[in-house]
Amino acid sequence: MGKLDGKAAIITGAGSGIGRATAILFAQEGARVAAVDVDEDGAKSAAAEIAKAGGQAFAFKTDVSKARDAQAMVAETVKRFGTLDIIYNNAGIFFPAQVHSMTEEEWDRMLAINLKGVFLGCKYALAEMMKHGGVILATGSIAGLEGHNGEPHYGAAKAGVINLMKSIAMDYAHYNVRANCICPGGVQTNIAKGIIDRIPPEQLAKMGQLALTHSLIKRQAQPEEIAKAALFLCSDDASFITGHTLVVDGGWTAGHRMAFFE
Ligand SMILES: NC(=O)c1ccc[n+]([C@@H]2O[C@H](COP(=O)([O-])OP(=O)(O)OC[C@H]3O[C@@H](n4cnc5c(N)ncnc54)[C@H](O)[C@@H]3O)[C@@H](O)[C@H]2O)c1
Repeated sequence: MGKLDGKAAIITGAGSGIGRATAILFAQEGARVAAVDVDEDGAKSAAAEIAKAGGQAFAFKTDVSKARDAQAMVAETVKRFGTLDIIYNNAGIFFPAQVHSMTEEEWDRMLAINLKGVFLGCKYALAEMMKHGGVILATGSIAGLEGHNGEPHYGAAKAGVINLMKSIAMDYAHYNVRANCICPGGVQTNIAKGIIDRIPPEQLAKMGQLALTHSLIKRQAQPEEIAKAALFLCSDDASFITGHTLVVDGGWTAGHRMAFFE
């Protein structure tokens, strides 16, 4: 028996990284999955992998920052599966910037996808979930919990996501809707691929070293390690957990190093 048997789940950003790993894991656990992504090929390939393994999924092209798309994603899921039990608002982008030189367009793009996209997913999913209950999950980041230089727009959006999940937990608990947030640290995905190509190799080496020293478990997470946390929060194993922010960061934010002991 799977932990999500018969559940209908939307996963955004399912074409790559954390979303893809979660879509595959949820389907293995018996969920029927709407694999949603702006990258249609990525979504199709995730859905095909699920189908090949005997699971149930369909791919759906959606730009989560567009209300019409978000509404269509929920409508299509309900049309195909008859209901909606789980939405994992995970799609996101990353690029570094600083406040003094960031353009208004860069700020708006970051907030539109990483924060407004979560709001829109919740808005249309809630209309369905208020009929029978459900589970909402979002991917925040430790950048939403603490300051990270070069990421003010990303951190502001993720701080917003963390608060949005808590607020939704409060407003919709009496509809039997739980809402939680996962805050990953460094995860080995494609999110910074386009940027990394443009960074000089010596700077990249320094960044690699720094990334390893951040987490106590001296490596990045694999997307599957975040997917397992998502499965926990979306399953009945977490039936008494709502309004929670689960940090999955290998100890990155555990504290600050002192020099008493090695
Ligand atoms: N990788 C990390 O280190 C890390 C750390 C903390 C939080 N996160 C968060 O995890 C989430 C998933 O990222 P990932 O690391 O798996 O990256 P990824 O790039 O591998 O996957 C993100 C997916 O989101 C999709 N996407 C982007 N914009 C979209 C849009 N407008 N509409 C629909 N889909 C869109 C992309 O096409 C891609 O398939 C993001 O919210 C990200 O901010 C990642």
